[in-house]
Amino acid sequence: MVEFRKKSVQDIDVSGKTVLIRVDYNVPIKDGVIQEDLRISSSLSTIRYVLDQGARKVILISHLGRPDGVYIPEMSLAPCAQKLAELLPDKVVRFSDMIYGPDAKAAVDALPDGGVILLENLRFVPDEEKNSATFAQEIVNATGAEIFVQDGFAVIHRAHASTDAIARLLPSVAGFLVEQEVANLEAAISNPQRPLLVIVGGAKVDDKQPLIDKFLTIADKIAVGGKIAADGYVNASPNVYVAEDFVQGVNGSKLDIGPVSTQKIIDMIKGSHTIVWNGTLGMVEDERYAKSSLAIAQAMGESHDMTIVGGGDTTSFVEKVLKTNGNLTFNLISTGGGASLELLSGKKLPGLEVLQDK
Ligand code: 3PG
Repeated sequence: MVEFRKKSVQDIDVSGKTVLIRVDYNVPIKDGVIQEDLRISSSLSTIRYVLDQGARKVILISHLGRPDGVYIPEMSLAPCAQKLAELLPDKVVRFSDMIYGPDAKAAVDALPDGGVILLENLRFVPDEEKNSATFAQEIVNATGAEIFVQDGFAVIHRAHASTDAIARLLPSVAGFLVEQEVANLEAAISNPQRPLLVIVGGAKVDDKQPLIDKFLTIADKIAVGGKIAADGYVNASPNVYVAEDFVQGVNGSKLDIGPVSTQKIIDMIKGSHTIVWNGTLGMVEDERYAKSSLAIAQAMGESHDMTIVGGGDTTSFVEKVLKTNGNLTFNLISTGGGASLELLSGKKLPGLEVLQDK
């Protein structure tokens, strides 16, 4: 087991304190309904632990989507507060549509002791992604937070106000989800059984390209599908395979990889002992374009090798597949997308580095 280098909630006294927890509730929402709640359910153990230890109040902060500093009603975290209330039926759970200022302070003041309050989407404020120390201080002032807990594993590869600046203002430790994810992923990659195959897809093209380059020296094979491949990604390295055929939508856009590419990636899975999959290979929200991702999930889930899945959309998809395919198993399903890939590729994660060392 790889030792976790950072202090965790178990290393700090939270009793009587107001605890600010950064979670990642960036979950898929359609028509106001949460499609998959793994990231919310994964945050419960830290929330319950700090309350059991006598924390006075718990303030949760998160982002959702990429609203780029403007208010977009569809990206409100209100449905997540509702879901959290369902998952914590014995606690008072509230939502504040203000993140800082007098109204946010009033909402926190009105929260009874032992209660939990989720503040609105941090990315409605441009200062969040600018890693503004002033914005971080405003959140601390409004909430009266005395301890910061980083439990949003999926976002710790970002140096934003809620992952970096804020951790410089308060005693800052890791939550259980961050601790478990980091330990599990580091253990899986520290001495992998080879061949190691990394399958990369998804829509965040700009994020993924530099990571593919980082994996060139780590992975034995890299298979690229999803939007990156559809956009014409080229990599001449002999250990990189880029999908070669596609399923097209009505307007001719490439919405899934085709049967030839899918079969080649399945063959790679069969020839590997450690398989990391991050990013769906097609637009899986539409069943017509989910065929390759389903075939990959099946091939990985049937394999007896080390299988690691990461990424919001990919884990949601795999969780859905698992519901109807009870025979499939995965070793590790990570809540992190970019975060898990960056960690596996050996990059330092700013939101982790800033936490107190053991
Ligand atoms: C994710 O879904 O990977 C995280 O929530 C981070 O989101 P981001 O890529 O928009 O920063």
